[in-house]
Amino acid sequence: MEVRLEDVWFSYDGRRYVLKSINMEIKGGGLHVVMGPNGSGKTTLLKILSLIYKPTRGSVIVDGRSYWDLGPAERDLVRHHIVYVHDKPILLRGDVWYNVSLGLKLRGFNNYDYLEELIKRYGLSELLKSSSRSLSAGQRRLVSVIRVLALKPRVLVLDEPFNYLDSSRVKILLEDIIAMAESSLVVIATHYVVRELRDNAVKMYELVEGSLRG
Ligand SMILES: Nc1ncnc2c1ncn2[C@@H]1O[C@H](COP(=O)(O)OP(=O)(O)O)[C@@H](O)[C@H]1O
Ligand SMILES: [Mg+2]
Repeated sequence: MEVRLEDVWFSYDGRRYVLKSINMEIKGGGLHVVMGPNGSGKTTLLKILSLIYKPTRGSVIVDGRSYWDLGPAERDLVRHHIVYVHDKPILLRGDVWYNVSLGLKLRGFNNYDYLEELIKRYGLSELLKSSSRSLSAGQRRLVSVIRVLALKPRVLVLDEPFNYLDSSRVKILLEDIIAMAESSLVVIATHYVVRELRDNAVKMYELVEGSLRG
């Protein structure tokens, strides 16, 4: 899949632009890292790449077609392949198993082997019957990440995926993200960049006050 932003501007209030003339292209596979301080526009940019926000000005070209000029049915087909993971995990009522397995269920998959492997690896086995409301911030983060890793989407967009995680989980998640980037396109926004990301990224972007550097 290929997503291209052409001269994209974005404003929440119609006065101040939080993204200014962004041009970028992500395609094929590999890891793309968007870095920048808090407030620089990373989340907004990721939501535009994930086809959640429509740019105030400019175009989003997906596989050669202008996404926001497509009809609703065509948009759904395209958006289906792109999964965005919020910086603040949103979990549903119910237990942990319900939350991690729902995505697979909704997509009609009935092989849960990889999901179960992930659950073990991140140490969530004991929590499967726990209510999502009882989880810590780090546990919520793990649930929100595991449920999308299990889907193996073509494009995976992760907003500050390492927040709230202890260093051992950060290490596992880095390994999984890097492995996934061998077959999928993975975009990460992060305000701190660890060496493993730098070493494995096909491209690094730096946002400064809504403008892209480098
Ligand atoms: N929903 C919103 N409404 C109004 N302003 C927003 C909203 N979300 C973010 N902003 C503003 O847009 C700018 C960029 O924010 P954001 O994209 O969240 O940056 P980052 O993810 O790099 O911290 C900030 O100045 C922020 O205050
Ligand atoms: Mg953010």
